[in-house]
Formats: sequence, C-alpha cells, structure tokens
Amino acid sequence: MSSNTGFHNRAFDAGTLQKLNIYASYLKSAVAVFLNLPPTSPVKSINIYDFFAGPGMDALGRYGSPLLAIKTILEMATAPQTKHLWGKPIYFHFFDRKEKSINSLQKNIKDIFGDSLSSHPHIKIEFKTSDFETSFNDHIEEIRKTNTANILFIDQFGMAHFDMEKLISLSKCYYTDCMVFMASSSLHRFKELQNRFSDMGYKFKNPKDYRHVHTQILKAFREAPLEKKLFFGSFAFKKKTNIYGLIYFSGSRRGIDQFLRLCWKEDPVEGLANFFLHEDQPNKDSQLLFAFKKTHIENLQEQFKLFILENHPISESALYDKCCDLWMLPEHCEPVLKKLKDNKILQCSFRRPQPNQDREITYFS
Ligand SMILES: C[S@@+](CC[C@H](N)C(=O)[O-])C[C@H]1O[C@@H](n2cnc3c(N)ncnc32)[C@H](O)[C@@H]1O
Repeated sequence: MSSNTGFHNRAFDAGTLQKLNIYASYLKSAVAVFLNLPPTSPVKSINIYDFFAGPGMDALGRYGSPLLAIKTILEMATAPQTKHLWGKPIYFHFFDRKEKSINSLQKNIKDIFGDSLSSHPHIKIEFKTSDFETSFNDHIEEIRKTNTANILFIDQFGMAHFDMEKLISLSKCYYTDCMVFMASSSLHRFKELQNRFSDMGYKFKNPKDYRHVHTQILKAFREAPLEKKLFFGSFAFKKKTNIYGLIYFSGSRRGIDQFLRLCWKEDPVEGLANFFLHEDQPNKDSQLLFAFKKTHIENLQEQFKLFILENHPISESALYDKCCDLWMLPEHCEPVLKKLKDNKILQCSFRRPQPNQDREITYFS
C-alpha cells in the first residue's frame, strides 16, 4: 500500500488544502440543511464520521479534517444566521488505525476547542483506534437508522479501502452523504486493485491513464445494483504527476446540489477538477486561447436541450437529474429553458430546475 509516513509531519500541499476546503464548506451547508429539517422529520441527531482522521494538523499547525469539522460546527453554533437552528445533538466519530494519531487528535481537540466544547453539551465526540473495515462494520447499523442524518468522510490513502460492497451497503441508508477520497495514481502499482476496479466495470487500458479514473469509477458506481437512487459527483485534483479525486454521493437532490455548487466554485470552467479534465491542457489559465471554441458549458447546454427535445420529460425532477448527470449548474439550464419557452416548445412555471421541487412541464405538440 502507499506509504503514509510523514503525511502530517509535512505541510499540507495545495491539493490537500483544496480538498479540506471543499469538505469544510460541504459540512457547513449540509449540517445547516439537517438542522433545518421540519420537526415532523424523523431525524433526531446528526453524525459526522471521519474514518481516516489522522492526528488533526500538519507540520505548520494547519487543521486537518477533524479539527476543521469541529471549528466549522462551533462557528455555526455561534453565528447569527445559524445559532437559532440548534436543537439536535451532533456526534463526531473519529477513527484512525494508529493509536498515536488518535491520542494526538484527542489532545489537539482538548487544547484548541476544550473550553468551547464544554459550553456546547449537544456536541459529543467519539475517538477510537480502529481500522476502517472494523469501524465501518461497527457503525453501519447505526448509519442505516431512519432517525440519524450522517456525513461520512473516507479520506484514505490510495484507493484500497472503499469498494462496491460498501457502496451498496450505504445505498440502503436514509439521510447519508458520503465523500470518498481516492488517489487514482496508486492504481498502477497494485495488480489486485486493478482487478478490483476491472470488477467494478472500469476498463483499465493503460496504467498511466489516470486522468479519467474517477469518471470511470463514478460510471461503475452509478451502474451498481444500488438499493435506491444515489446522486454522484466528483472533483479531481492534480498534484505533481498524480491525480486524486473526491467522490461524493448522496440519496438527496439537496445534497448533490450543495456539492455541485462547491465544485463549480472551485472550478468555474468545468466544475470538475483543478486541471483541464476534458482537454489536454496543462492548466486552466490558458483557457482564453480557446475562446473561439464552443465552451464546455455551451456543449452541456446543447446536450441538455437534446435531452428535452428527445424525451419530453414532464417533471422538474427529471430535468434536475439530467442537469446533475451532465454536471452543469441549474443556472446553466436557464437560457435553454427560456429559448424552448420562447419558441413555444414547452411551458413550465420555473426558470431553472430546483432540487427540492417537482413542478410540471407541458409541451405544445
Ligand atoms: C490521508 S490521512 C488522513 C488525513 C486527515 N483526514 C486529515 O485531513 O488530516 C490518512 C490517515 O488514515 C490512517 N489510516 C491508514 N490506513 C487506515 C485504515 N485501514 N483504517 C483507518 N485508518 C487508516 C493513517 O494513519 C492516516 O492518519
């Protein structure tokens, strides 16, 4: 397996910081949604699982995922926009297979947040030295309960630990959003991983062809025999010659909408990566050179229009799902819908599809 020695003894690189930023921003929006659920909702607690937690910070004292998560939640607990929402307990679950990391994490949290946490008794933390296989199996029943909302962060090295079986198992859960970090470059080093990904449906042609591994993994995940519909997305990072990716899935349109927006914020050109995924360009700064070509968004809009003309979907949710499949923002759908309305092809009361609505669409012929 890839070596993890020194990951936290060095400074986090730009890709790691970007990944952590996406995770923290996601937590902020997702926890607000879970806190805002109506009183009739069965959800009684919010659980944040960090299965590869690490000791908490890098060599420069910058926060890793567990400290960032606590900081984010504590800020929400006092911010004027969100402090009124508190009512449900929030449970953090931090696991790492190294006892030393869990001990350091516990100490870091106590030193940095001890005082604030003691004035927020609705926030509780579980620490455990445990490998992923064990902690996942120990908690999956709890995650599956209808009265818990869960956010899972699976920040593994390489791509060895998350598999189809776990995905299928998570597809049986109710309010559960999951982020899995995968380093596609480790694939070529491990024959057994190549086989595993071939079994998942990824046609592994060239060991150096990592660029689209995450897109292929998403395809295999989408085609898996899932218990119920999941919405998938991914964001890829290039670090030196390696490609890493954050894979997201959730059973909720609201969930995927939040992740989609964060990705487009990080990458306003494609919403997919911190490098050009679809064109063989070294970086996004050279995009102006390609101004004469049809933009990525224009291509997506064309596909969206064709989908409508060929399928005549009659519900907003079908449009929203297509927009997510194409990985475009609902705002990008607006000019397409306007033109179809102006040309008397269809009629609907909305300008762009919303994740939490299901209004009707009618056609003129
Ligand atoms: C990439 S680091 C996690 C970084 C952390 N999320 C952060 O932001 O600081 C991976 C961590 O996973 C732990 N680890 C490696 N294999 C593991 C396994 N099988 N089960 C649980 N933890 C594991 C390592 O000890 C290391 O702390």
